Amino acid sequence: MELNIEDLDALLEYLKCQGHIRSGDTVWVKTLLGGVSNRTVKVTWEDGHGLVLKQALAKLRVKEDWFSSPERIRVEAKGLRWLNRLAPPGTTPAFRFEDAANHLMAMEAIPDDCENWKSLLLSGQIVANHFEQFGFLLGTIHRRSAESAPEVCRVFADSTYFENLRLEPYYLYTARETPAVAGFLNELAQTTLRHKLSLVHGDFSPKNSLIYHGKLILLDYEVVHFGDPAFDAGFALTHFLSKAHHLRKERAALADAAALFWQVYFKEVLPFGWDELEPRTVRHTLACLLARVAGKSPLEYLTPIERARQREAVVLLMTKPPTQVGDLIAEFIGEIEAHAEN
Ligand SMILES: Nc1ncnc2c1ncn2[C@@H]1O[C@H](COP(=O)(O)OP(=O)(O)O)[C@@H](O)[C@H]1O
Ligand SMILES: [Mg+2]
Repeated sequence: MELNIEDLDALLEYLKCQGHIRSGDTVWVKTLLGGVSNRTVKVTWEDGHGLVLKQALAKLRVKEDWFSSPERIRVEAKGLRWLNRLAPPGTTPAFRFEDAANHLMAMEAIPDDCENWKSLLLSGQIVANHFEQFGFLLGTIHRRSAESAPEVCRVFADSTYFENLRLEPYYLYTARETPAVAGFLNELAQTTLRHKLSLVHGDFSPKNSLIYHGKLILLDYEVVHFGDPAFDAGFALTHFLSKAHHLRKERAALADAAALFWQVYFKEVLPFGWDELEPRTVRHTLACLLARVAGKSPLEYLTPIERARQREAVVLLMTKPPTQVGDLIAEFIGEIEAHAEN
């Protein structure tokens, strides 16, 4: 029977049997919350070092029925091993081991005094340098993977989990729910699959980022694949703009920070001259902005009024999408403010 890592006694027994915990070691174990598609448990030793174990769930912890094969842990493990090489030093936890039979993998634990970036942002702490780090991190991953394209493309050719966990629930489901923009979303989903340019993280968001002593660390690699870099940039911008919508006081700072993220990112990938990268980033941002209010996985911090307002603003912008990210930010914020209740 498969081990359940949230059964902490069974987990300790397993780690002892596998030689990761030695006799005489004192360890603390705790379940980490926040994710929806995995069990995540942290094990800490007396000297402060630790492991985080992730085990893929077959049924995701969301309201809608949403299934995905736990075999995807293989992609997560491979994604982290490659990001340890491709991403700037220290921006991903070191890979430790994987156990495909139990659908789990282990990595270095970031110490407890780290903070989740999403929580920081929602508490109103908008630090420009974090956005710069995020842009540089993404640009570096895209640039370096594109430089080694033949090899990386071969290793990450399979985009099944990205299709199951992103294109279907975000773009195609939203297209069925919102017929007025179904053409926009269906066409973008097809375009995405045709672009094979760089490694794509696929879940590049503040929720999957820790800030440890001022340094940003990227987590969660289960939909990593070789594909369209514009998806990652648009996915990230969606989170910044949705938070700019939700946090009226921080709106201007978040809009500026989103633009800064894009500038730093774009500078890193500029040498490739990727055709239509910016207009495609705008389209992915619009698609994700809509998917996160009308798709299978709505952003939990947006109120029903905010969700409706975001939906209306985005459907309107989709009729005439700007070609530049700066214009998109200004137009989205303009629409939100024009329909604000106060
Ligand atoms: N290496 C790590 N060190 C410390 N905390 C981690 C680590 N990996 C994950 N976490 C914590 O666990 C949470 C869930 O992990 P994540 O990889 O995002 O799982 P999921 O795929 O379920 O979203 C993260 O938001 C983070 O708070
Ligand atoms: Mg996560």
